[in-house]
Amino acid sequence: MKNYENVVIFDHPLIRHKIAILRDEKTSMKEFRELVEEITTLMTYESLKEGVPTTEVEVKTPLETCTQRVVTDNSIVIVPILRAGLGMVNGIHVLFPSARVGHIGMYRNEETLEPCEYYCKLPKDIDDKLVLLVDPMLATGGSACDDINLLKKHGCNHIKFMAIIGAPEGVSKVAEAHPDVDIYVSTLDRCLNENGYIFPGLGDAGDRLFGTK
Ligand code: PRP
Ligand code: URA
Repeated sequence: MKNYENVVIFDHPLIRHKIAILRDEKTSMKEFRELVEEITTLMTYESLKEGVPTTEVEVKTPLETCTQRVVTDNSIVIVPILRAGLGMVNGIHVLFPSARVGHIGMYRNEETLEPCEYYCKLPKDIDDKLVLLVDPMLATGGSACDDINLLKKHGCNHIKFMAIIGAPEGVSKVAEAHPDVDIYVSTLDRCLNENGYIFPGLGDAGDRLFGTK
């Protein structure tokens, strides 16, 4: 895959370790859910190294008063792509408990692989927030591209997209369609098969999170 300025592939040993367990078909639903949350927390820490709105505050220590920077109140909105993105929300809430959550429902038509939107509920003032769009799987990139278009229609111009596993085809598609969006992927897999599944991948993330298969 080409190098894109707006794409970061983490390839961090701790994240790689957790993804290896996540992929294993023997991993239980409970462990899968916990791992998705843990990986998301690690990804959030890295993804928010830059571009987080901060505010200066005065803090009185037992010794003196100093000026510190804290994350600006109400500046981050999490947007999971339903369903599987829901599994990532708690992993961000651990770091930002007061972040509000918008929801976009999108499923892939299993034959055409085209994304179909079925739900959208976003905070009214989302346009001036840092939006963390999350979905564990970035396969063809169709869902992520449509979601980003939808967020942009709502006025969002500061979007970071986080996916745990990406296929080269999908990462390229989103990076080229949305060069203004920062894309963070924990690990880049080999390819997609003819049914749009990521290989080696982990199977269907939504089914494994919610036990629907
Ligand atoms: C999966 C996944 C992404 C999408 C990725 O969702 O969670 O949203 O597919 O595929 P794409 O990059 O080719 O668009 P799915 O449609 O299976 O819905 P679900 O989360 O409800 O299971
Ligand atoms: N969605 C999934 O959940 N898994 C894939 O491999 C591709 C899309």
